[in-house]
Amino acid sequence: MSTLTINHLLGIKYLNSKDLKLIFETTDHFKEVINRKIKKVPSLRDVTIANLFFENSTRTKISFELAQKRLSADVVNFSSSVSSVSKGETLIDTVNNILSMKVDMVVIRHPSPGASVFLANNVDSCIINAGDGTHEHPTQALLDAYSVKEKIGDLKNKKILIVGDILHSRVALSSIYAYQKLGAYVTVCGPKSLIPKYIESLDVKVETDLLNGLKWCDAVNMLRIQNERMSDSYFPSVREYVQQFGLNKKILDSLNKEIIIMHPGPINRGVEITSEVADSDQAIILDQVENGVAIRMAVMYLLASKLY
Ligand code: CP
Repeated sequence: MSTLTINHLLGIKYLNSKDLKLIFETTDHFKEVINRKIKKVPSLRDVTIANLFFENSTRTKISFELAQKRLSADVVNFSSSVSSVSKGETLIDTVNNILSMKVDMVVIRHPSPGASVFLANNVDSCIINAGDGTHEHPTQALLDAYSVKEKIGDLKNKKILIVGDILHSRVALSSIYAYQKLGAYVTVCGPKSLIPKYIESLDVKVETDLLNGLKWCDAVNMLRIQNERMSDSYFPSVREYVQQFGLNKKILDSLNKEIIIMHPGPINRGVEITSEVADSDQAIILDQVENGVAIRMAVMYLLASKLY
């Protein structure tokens, strides 16, 4: 059986193109499983997984939990707001206490960049990063790339545009790594204040004109403005942001070609994307969510095979 080169999923940075191919092939299989009448398989029957969410989540948390249940794993859920973290317990103590109850795998979302790497270096368990601050969100990038590949085929030489708040986005960095490892070209687009200075060192082009970017690309990922991570004002007003970087039907119709439209969610309707576009046939936003369950099943199944 083929195996991953990694023992944890901490970021797309640590995967190679063969790992991505294996994850996608395994996802194809699990996608077929979750579309059956009986959606459950016994693959992780003896595996216990803890979902530790130190930050809010709708899609990622539900998707991981559903994926674990479809694989017949035993699941425990932890939410920092109702835990002893608020009494001053450290992250390592929290996780080691949970692991002493014989947990095999930890899925963690945390506001601090590097939290999952820190855990992988300090506790004895398989760690999956479900989003660490502004750093990486690997399963989101995997499900995005899988979803666009499903629509337009092999991503080699395809052109992907990522629009919006690149500076605060963990989806952007994971996606850049994923698309490049799959042979695609990536351009980022947004206000200069929301483009990190290191971006060109990643062999990514920068575009500040949305129409130019859209004319260039085969698929666009519209990112959310992450107000919760902003301590300063990065653009004059939401109205001006929408005028320059909001995706609407008029600008799409002016392209004379069909492009794939993605959004990782949650959507600010009327800001980064209008409802008309988000709900159009060109948008694959709900396909992304559906594929997220199969991607996470594949990741956990492949990592679990390395546990014993
Ligand atoms: N895409 C994403 O991470 O969504 P949630 O914050 O709802 O998990």
